[in-house]
Amino acid sequence: MSQTATGPAGRETLGFQAEVKQLLQLMIHSLYSNREIFLRELISNASDACDKLRFEALHNGALFEGDADLKIRVAYDKAARTLTIADNGIGMSRDEVVANLGTIAKSGTREFFSRLTGDQQNDAHLIGQFGVGFYSSFIVADRVTVLTRRAGETAGQGVRWECDMGDESSGVYSVEMTDRPGRGTEITLHLRDGQDDLLSGHRIRAIVRKYSDHIVQPIVMKKEQWQDGAETITEEDETVNQASALWARPKGEISEEQYREFYKHVGHDFDDPLAWTHSRVEGRSEYTQLLYVPGRAPFDLWDRDARHGVKLYVRRVFIMDDAEQLMPLYLRFVRGVVDSADLPLNVSREILQESKDIEAIRAGCTKKVLALLEDMARSDEPGDKDKYAKFWGEFGRVLKEGVGEDSVNRDKIAGLLRFATTRADNAEETVSLQDYVGRMKEGQDKIYYVAADSFNAAKNSPHLEVFRKKGIEVLLLSERVDEWVVGHLTEFGGKALVSVAKGGLDLGKLEDEAEKQEQEQEAGEFKELTERIGASLGERVKEVRVTHRLTESPACLVADEHDMSANLARMLKAAGQKAPAAAPILEINPRHPVVLRLRYEEKKFDDWSAVLFDQALLAEGGQLDDPAAFVRRINELMLDLGGGASRIILPH
Ligand SMILES: Nc1ncnc2c1ncn2[C@@H]1O[C@H](COP(=O)(O)OP(=O)(O)OP(=O)(O)O)[C@@H](O)[C@H]1O
Ligand SMILES: [Mg+2]
Repeated sequence: MSQTATGPAGRETLGFQAEVKQLLQLMIHSLYSNREIFLRELISNASDACDKLRFEALHNGALFEGDADLKIRVAYDKAARTLTIADNGIGMSRDEVVANLGTIAKSGTREFFSRLTGDQQNDAHLIGQFGVGFYSSFIVADRVTVLTRRAGETAGQGVRWECDMGDESSGVYSVEMTDRPGRGTEITLHLRDGQDDLLSGHRIRAIVRKYSDHIVQPIVMKKEQWQDGAETITEEDETVNQASALWARPKGEISEEQYREFYKHVGHDFDDPLAWTHSRVEGRSEYTQLLYVPGRAPFDLWDRDARHGVKLYVRRVFIMDDAEQLMPLYLRFVRGVVDSADLPLNVSREILQESKDIEAIRAGCTKKVLALLEDMARSDEPGDKDKYAKFWGEFGRVLKEGVGEDSVNRDKIAGLLRFATTRADNAEETVSLQDYVGRMKEGQDKIYYVAADSFNAAKNSPHLEVFRKKGIEVLLLSERVDEWVVGHLTEFGGKALVSVAKGGLDLGKLEDEAEKQEQEQEAGEFKELTERIGASLGERVKEVRVTHRLTESPACLVADEHDMSANLARMLKAAGQKAPAAAPILEINPRHPVVLRLRYEEKKFDDWSAVLFDQALLAEGGQLDDPAAFVRRINELMLDLGGGASRIILPH
């Protein structure tokens, strides 16, 4: 934002942050077909402002300035062609006006702009996800005036903000101090040409009822009457919405539409939610919960300081936004409301941290959300299968964190996980552990997985060769959080989860006696070779042994049973943490020509051993200590095989 001019009487003209300008243009063009949502956005903000005032006033009653009757007023003026939305909520100071209406402070802003394509439909969708908010006023108005004063300030601290988009120099707005006896905010929209249909009491009432019926504060308008053949506006107020807390109404009286609209307000989302759960809990602690699973991950899902979460109310009084104690971190995508009957009104974040009531509420909410997800995952209803897949696509990675975070519900969460496996061999995560166990081979008693730092590295891991040959399904893990999952989830349904890259390969009953005998024999035959390679590699390996997990590759690395997996060690290192450096075990394939050749190699034995080790490391996604040495060795060995370096004549 840059200051461009200071006019008379302290009026300043300021430029919008570049992103705001872009957003305004986009808003007007992409959302025009849905223009009436501007009213929902402005009423939603007014309602938030009233909630904030009520909350601050819990600690400082003077903020009410003798008027605790919070409401939102909507009015129109046909002659002036204006619409006005006013509230007696918290209001804004001059600095707040500039910060809130002149810039976008949201996290994910940069990402949002980078994803814009210029395609209206796509962009309209993104913008909805990003949040349209206050700027949606400009869909229907070319000039917007905001008059506001923060609660508790003197009348002289009023602020007038105005932006005229009709004017060619758009991209600027003005702010000036003004007298404003009443606290709160009044927003006047000077309608664009062609928007006159909005100047109708009927039309406005219909829009308010459609989108904002659930707003807790009364939304009042002046009553209208037929008089002398014309509709006239009277002096009498009437409340247009139901103005009661939606969550406190009986379920049977709430329509799906109302649930959805309420979500858009409380979840700051533009799209419909995927699912919700609404219930009243009675007993040791008494509360009502209305919790939603969004249809899409918000831009700030990965931002630990994300602003929106579950709102806490105490006996219908708003207490705080994003009460993080109400939901475990791995369910941070959940939006909605919890209304407690037991907590004191003056509850603070500090008190929440220690409250037994909150603990009970949090446990109850967690159960409800997990049950909601289970229902979604299990449902046979046609549309529902896709719903869970959609949920998993958006939030699966977050839910996975729960395996480590929530030991009480670990089994439940494990049942909700979805994996990519060697069965479909693609990156889509669709297989549940239940599915996996259901189709285990006869004699199989373990759940096998491979973890690598990319899907391709996992899918092409040499460790999978014998599993592929025998048709045994293996989970393909390639996300960072997966190491965390398998670190905490050691079994599912009594079946151990086992890494195919750790410990000795024990296929148990999946191998027959003949195979086992053959292996023992080979281990004996290759004893001398494995010892020689071990001596040559020295400290780089813990052990060298013959394996039967390979069918195509000459060698692979495995971690010892109780050592950290190489993938996890690499992840920790990349994150700047110390990882205990345990040397891996080198396993060689006794049927591979390179290995067979090595038995008779004398001269270049060390080079061959080193290459064997290095390529096994590369194949599992590791990094070479000395890549140049590897390249040199490979070249030398290639030339050797081709008949020796001596035959190449270098030009002078
Ligand atoms: N009526 C109002 N009273 C007080 N502050 C307001 C009012 N309207 C807007 N604001 C301030 O301006 C900010 C920006 O509003 P805006 O609607 O654009 O975003 P938001 O409400 O924070 O999120 P969303 O994009 O979900 O609407 C608000 O966060 C609030 O601080
Ligand atoms: Mg808003």
